[in-house]
Amino acid sequence: MRILVTGGTGYIGSHTCVELITKGHEVVIVDNLYNSNIDVLDKIEAITGVKPKFYEVDILDKEGLDRVFKENDFDAIIHFAGYKAVGESCVIPLTYYKNNISGSINLYECMAAHHVDNIVFSSSATVYGDNFEVPFKEEYGQGDTTNPYGTTKKFNEIILEDFCKANKDISAVSLRYFNPIGAHPSGLLGEDPKGIPNNLVPYIAKVATGELDHLNVFGDDYDTIDGTGVRDYIHVVDLAKAHVKAIEYAQRHKGAEVINVGSGKGYSVLEVLHAYEKACGKKLAYEVKDRRPGDIAVSYADTKKAKELLDFEVELDIEDMCRDSYNFMIKSQKNEG
Ligand code: NAD
Ligand code: WQD
Repeated sequence: MRILVTGGTGYIGSHTCVELITKGHEVVIVDNLYNSNIDVLDKIEAITGVKPKFYEVDILDKEGLDRVFKENDFDAIIHFAGYKAVGESCVIPLTYYKNNISGSINLYECMAAHHVDNIVFSSSATVYGDNFEVPFKEEYGQGDTTNPYGTTKKFNEIILEDFCKANKDISAVSLRYFNPIGAHPSGLLGEDPKGIPNNLVPYIAKVATGELDHLNVFGDDYDTIDGTGVRDYIHVVDLAKAHVKAIEYAQRHKGAEVINVGSGKGYSVLEVLHAYEKACGKKLAYEVKDRRPGDIAVSYADTKKAKELLDFEVELDIEDMCRDSYNFMIKSQKNEG
């Protein structure tokens, strides 16, 4: 298939391009490089032997996007492009709504105008909010999201559902990712956010490399194994493989579906910290702080639907995730220094 990948130079997008190319698909990337680097194209080439065709286009630029559709005959779309920082979305909500919703609508309009029928959308477990019992099941629907970022994901799922109801040829799969971490085993692709990371594993990674001196653990009084928050971490390479299966599923299916993509297992903050200590071979300092506002105690996926519809199950575990994350950090440091 010839697949348009929006946000394809980003963290999850770049890993997905590798898996798509490896499976023989042709990839065309659209990204405005807001949160990624053009070098990623060379890295994808170094891993796969193929450099994807690339357009530096903002999905808010409808004419630019339309040109990309005119110049390429796509079979399917995987839509990653968007802003993703939960805290920032509370400060600049309109910017988030514009980028993640108006940008997506531009894309869906181009899809309709150019008769591209299949799309996989990056949704998030955040759409469950704090309303439901674990494991989170797709049939729960959507909960009360706790921040504008989460609401953009919820709205996109609803928009795609309505789009499919009105257009019987369209197939839209919203994948609800749990917590993607890790990096490509080559050490060439991964996530190294600028500044102080918001998310757990990027933060621990910077403690491991000495850029930060300790981890702040947000709360140790939850009703969990050791009092710290529990999440369902998934290796980004497994997540990328789920996209290949989802886009193939979208081709043989019509209508809207939402599917969880997680491991089905939960790990506490301290369990992840200890797994990372094993990966980097040293003790990592931490301090317990107050709970982070908006956090829930436990989140993990019911994975049955992914198994049934996509024949997808994770292959990599928490040790693989921490090993590959640390390998990427060390390799990036060497390249910078
Ligand atoms: P990322 O920031 O690394 O990748 C997103 C890419 O989209 C970046 O390369 C960015 O430059 C690009 N982009 C942003 N706005 C754009 C625009 N207007 N036009 C063109 N390109 C634009 O993020 P990621 O972690 O790879 O996440 C990919 C998708 O998955 C996002 O939609 C995110 O919300 C979603 N998601 C991520 C997580 C996670 O924990 N990483 C979890 C659930 C869902
Ligand atoms: C995990 C656990 C924290 C940082 C977020 C988004 C979600 C999705 C994935 C996009 C929690 C604890 C964290 C730290 C800590 N993204 N923690 N110290 O909050 O589950 O999910 O990323 O869709 O929408 O909300 O992930 O990695 O931030 O936190 O103790 O410095 O680690 O309290 O229990 P989260 P996270």
